[in-house]
Amino acid sequence: GSFSDIKAIAPTEVVIHDHRPHLIVPGFIDTHLHFPQIQIIGSYASNLLEWLNTYTFVEEQKYKDPLHCQNMAKQFFNTLINHGTTTAAAFCTTHPNSVEAFFTESHRRDMLMIGGKVMMDQNAPLELLDTPKSGYDDTKMLINKWHGVGRQYYAISPRFAITSTPEQLEMSQALINEHPDCYLQTHLSENKDEIALAKQLYPDCNDYTDIYNRYNFLGANSLFGHCIHLTEKEIAIMGETKSVAVFCPTSNLFLGSGLFNLELFLKQKLPIRIATGTDIGGGTNFSMLKTMDEAHKILQLQNQRLSPIESFYQITLGNALALSLENKIGTFEIESDADITVLDSRATSTMKIRMETVKNIVEELFVLQTMSDDRSVVQVYIKGKPSKNLK
Ligand code: GUN
Ligand code: ZN
Repeated sequence: GSFSDIKAIAPTEVVIHDHRPHLIVPGFIDTHLHFPQIQIIGSYASNLLEWLNTYTFVEEQKYKDPLHCQNMAKQFFNTLINHGTTTAAAFCTTHPNSVEAFFTESHRRDMLMIGGKVMMDQNAPLELLDTPKSGYDDTKMLINKWHGVGRQYYAISPRFAITSTPEQLEMSQALINEHPDCYLQTHLSENKDEIALAKQLYPDCNDYTDIYNRYNFLGANSLFGHCIHLTEKEIAIMGETKSVAVFCPTSNLFLGSGLFNLELFLKQKLPIRIATGTDIGGGTNFSMLKTMDEAHKILQLQNQRLSPIESFYQITLGNALALSLENKIGTFEIESDADITVLDSRATSTMKIRMETVKNIVEELFVLQTMSDDRSVVQVYIKGKPSKNLK
């Protein structure tokens, strides 16, 4: 409603924060990123598997140390807030204490977060491996401790088919059956070599998606990162099961993984549920605006369109819908949680000059999407509480 209408019905003691001329939007939602990869953003490699083996699996070993986890959790949530992101779905490491640090810090800030312990029991350094049993036990313990505590939600997180034995996928299936209200997050069809290796490891399965389907991974609470090279048959089953495909533009470009074909997903008889994520640290920027800037470019290369309004919708209510959290976040509806981001469209000298010719809100949103960085985020409210630059 208008300021004057709302002021007329607001209790007199309400404090007014005047953010004119800035834009007030629902806090951004990042549906796929890796908490322990904040310090390997921009690591030089020619493809996904080289990048994982050279940097990622080395970096994640540092999270054996609880102190390191705690320090990084502080930095991680500060960085999310600085970029206007108020909710995220994050992979932690195989170490339960990485999840402990993640949820402890998120809960302290009262942020709505989804997280989970990575499960992997093969094809990674020994120091990072769990076992089907320890992965199950640790996940169970963490779900019981954190799922539904305040605004914390658990995501059962087998990393991807390559790093899990059939026994571990079976244990993951047991966890999904025993905790149907938890999320599931994993990676699917990101890179051609990855797909070939997954099929080699699971020769009885028809395709990559079929590996996950056999263990009941597909469903409305399931988030599949990337989904770049899926066949029509794989896409159809994603639609039938209401699974979510997570588009991670900066990562897909940085790792040279491929171009996400949005149109193919949307033209299905049962359109696929789509979300977007940064995929930090394969992704190169925490900003969901920068993420949509790169999404726009990926779609441009395929002669596809996503308007500025659609992009802002995607990173707010669109991603909330993909997480089935639209009654809480991504919106200003009455009784929603009041996670709010305030944006300055004139935050840099170039934006200031550009804004002189902007004629309407759609143009202004596109300037923010294309030109802004964290300097545009002037304030972030978590459950109505100003939270930028809090320690
Ligand atoms: N596939 C399996 N693990 C990862 C990861 O950490 N990042 C990306 N981009 N893809 C993955
Ligand atoms: Zn990822």
